[in-house]
Amino acid sequence: MRTSVLNFNRASKTFTRGFTSRSVEGFTGAVGNTPLIHLKKWSEKTGCNIVAKAEFQNPGGSVKDRAALGVIRDAEERGLLKPGGTVVEGTAGNTGIGLAHVCRARGYDCVIFMPNTQSQEKIDLLRMLGAQVHPVPAVAYENPANYNHQARDFAKSLSNAIWTDQFDNTANANAHYVSTGPEIWEQTSGKVDAFTCATGTGGTLAGVGKYLKEKSAGKTQVWLADPPGSVLHSYIQSGGKLTERGGSSITEGIGQGRITNNLGTLINEIDGSLKIEDEKSISMLYDLLDSEGLYLGASSALNVVAAVELAQKLGPGHTIATILCDGAYRYQSRLFSKKWLETKGLQDAIPSHLKKYSVLD
Ligand SMILES: Cc1ncc(COP(=O)(O)O)c(C=O)c1O
Repeated sequence: MRTSVLNFNRASKTFTRGFTSRSVEGFTGAVGNTPLIHLKKWSEKTGCNIVAKAEFQNPGGSVKDRAALGVIRDAEERGLLKPGGTVVEGTAGNTGIGLAHVCRARGYDCVIFMPNTQSQEKIDLLRMLGAQVHPVPAVAYENPANYNHQARDFAKSLSNAIWTDQFDNTANANAHYVSTGPEIWEQTSGKVDAFTCATGTGGTLAGVGKYLKEKSAGKTQVWLADPPGSVLHSYIQSGGKLTERGGSSITEGIGQGRITNNLGTLINEIDGSLKIEDEKSISMLYDLLDSEGLYLGASSALNVVAAVELAQKLGPGHTIATILCDGAYRYQSRLFSKKWLETKGLQDAIPSHLKKYSVLD
């Protein structure tokens, strides 16, 4: 992967093929080292350098491949997981997909617990990747039958098994501290004024943020981007006093009701937060497709809105980095459906010249 590139020579007006790296070892070797994409239109509009990590290029298709590999590697190193063991997680999204891939590549069994409200496609995909899937009643976190607790208890009942505990296992944030953070630092030659992204587990924001703050001696600002329905914006704005939830969001994989252990590793050093409404995220999703040819999920679009708003706050001349978490492929039947957008009241949020992209009924 990504071993060969075409270089354009301006003088001779010819392309030559160059090689950027050697081959990598299997699926796990292909995780990370994603390109940092300069977003031209929004950089020009703000006078800033807005750059975004193409995490959809990870081999399992999302930023969560890094976390999945990180938590499994950590368990191996600590002797908690031995050859032939079982990896258990409660997840309905990208983490399960990342874990299922890594488990196949490393020879582990993968068991996923998820609420039984999830789509058949998600269940089928995990099964195609070799995971054992347990859809369980969708009950609140406080209920012992909640899918997270069932995952933990199931892992406990087996020998040579781990519950990866993505929300509170800080090996997740550490995966970003040792990979995503250093990559962004290197790809911007250490000139990164701010980093922003939304959080689910908080692993990406905390791990990248901690690394960039350390390397820049505190100069790089870290801002949390939050969708409606999450408590984190009110928590940060009120100095940790309020945990107000307002509304709900079409974004998936982000928004949180508590300070997870992963987010907790950085929460006191966060410089600010931005609440991003769905109207802005969906408009940006269509705009990035039109202006950059990028086909992205809603959390990626929200992150770019946050980067643009941060650029406007900081003023021209700054470099702001963010994350393109995954592609639109897993959400296309919703994000590009006129009917679905209408039921969410979002059809009017899409500028009229971009409505041509919502091609599904
Ligand atoms: C699409 C998507 N975006 C963003 C995130 C948030 O990443 P993190 O869990 O590192 O906060 C997730 C997490 O599952 C995700 O699936």
